[in-house]
Amino acid sequence: MSQIGSRRGAEYARILSTGAYRPERIVTNDEICEVLDSSDQWIRERTGIVTRRFAAPGETVADMGAHAGTQAIERAGLTPSDIDAVIMATSTHMVSMPSAAALAAAIMGCGRATSFDLTTACAGFTHGVSVANDMVRGGSARHVLVIGSDRMTDVVDPADRGSAMIFGDGAGAVVIGPSDVPGIGPTVWGSDADQSAALVQTRSWTEYRDEDDAAWPVLSMMGPKIFRWAVWEMAPVARRALEAAEVDVADLAAFVPHQANIRIIDQMAKQLKVPDHVVVARDVVDSGNTTAGSIPLALDRLITEGQVTSGGLALLIGFGAGLSYSAQVVELP
Ligand SMILES: CC(C)(COP(=O)(O)OP(=O)(O)OC[C@H]1O[C@@H](n2cnc3c(N)ncnc32)[C@H](O)[C@@H]1OP(=O)(O)O)[C@@H](O)C(=O)NCCC(=O)NCCS
Repeated sequence: MSQIGSRRGAEYARILSTGAYRPERIVTNDEICEVLDSSDQWIRERTGIVTRRFAAPGETVADMGAHAGTQAIERAGLTPSDIDAVIMATSTHMVSMPSAAALAAAIMGCGRATSFDLTTACAGFTHGVSVANDMVRGGSARHVLVIGSDRMTDVVDPADRGSAMIFGDGAGAVVIGPSDVPGIGPTVWGSDADQSAALVQTRSWTEYRDEDDAAWPVLSMMGPKIFRWAVWEMAPVARRALEAAEVDVADLAAFVPHQANIRIIDQMAKQLKVPDHVVVARDVVDSGNTTAGSIPLALDRLITEGQVTSGGLALLIGFGAGLSYSAQVVELP
C-alpha cells in the first residue's frame, strides 16, 4: 500500500513586519456624547479612551485591511506575489461571501494566495498568528499575511451606554515567515463558551429580515461581567503563555494585551507584575477598542514610535466574544 507523502516547512516562524491603517476621522468623547448619555470625564475615567477613529462611508473591512496589509508586505521587503496565504481576522465583514480576506487579497495584488476569514472577535488576531505559525512550520505556506480589521461602527448602537464609547474602526497586519530561531512561542488558547451570552449580536440577519420593524442588529455586552472575566481569568492565561515560551516577565520588552479598556490593561499588568522597564501598550487611549485590529495596531505603534527595538520579546493576549482567548510570546520584527 502506498503511503501519503508529507512535507515540512521551516523549522521556526517569526513576525517579519507590521502594518497599520487608522481611518482619517478622529472622533472625540464630546462627539460621542452628542448621541450618548455620558460625558468626556466618565469615559476617560472608566475606559481611558480619549478619541477613536471612524471609517469613512464606504470604507470596508477589506479596504482597511488591504491598506495595513500592503504596508506590512512592503516593510517585509516582499512583493504581493510572495504572499502564499492571507488570513483576515474580522467580525464585521458584512457579507458571507466572498471572504474579506479574498477581497483584500485582490486589492493588494496577491489574489492567487489562499485566503480566508477567521472570526473570533477580539481574539481573532492572536488566533491568526497561531494558525500562520503552524502553516509556515507545517509547510503549507512560506509567507502568511495576518490582518486584523474591524469596522465596529456598523454594529454599535451609538446610544448604548454599555458599549458606544468603547469601540472604533481600524486595521493592523503582520507578515509571518520562516525563521532559523523560534520567533513565535506556543499559543495558549481556549474558550469559555458557557459565557457566550456576555457579548452578542442582538438579533440574527434572518431575524432582522423576518421580524416586522426589527431594529438593525447591534452588539450588546455585559460590560462589568466581561471586565471581571478579563481581569481575573486572562492574567493567568498570559502567565501560561510566558511559561510555555519559557520566558520570564522581566525578559519582555513589551506587553501588548487586547486594547479594551485601560483599567483592564493596567489591572492585568499589575497581576502579572510587569516591571517598569517593560512597555505596556496603551493604544486604546486614542484608538478605542478596534476588536481584531487592536493588537496589531498597538504593536505597530510601539515599533514605529521606537518604543521597542527589533529582537525584543512581546507578550500578546487577545480576548473577547465567544468568550474566546489566545496568547503567545513573539519576537519583535
Ligand atoms: C462597559 C464598561 C466601560 C462600564 O464600566 P463600569 O465601570 O463597569 O460601569 P458600570 O456598568 O458598573 O456602571 C457604573 C455606573 O456608571 C453608569 N454608567 C454606565 N455606563 C455609562 C456611560 N456610558 N456613561 C455614564 N455613566 C455610565 C452606570 O449607570 C452606573 O451608575 P450607578 O453606579 O449610579 O448605578 C466596563 O464594564 C468595561 O469596559 N467592560 C469591558 C468591556 C469590554 O472590554 N468589552 C470588549 C471585550 S473584548
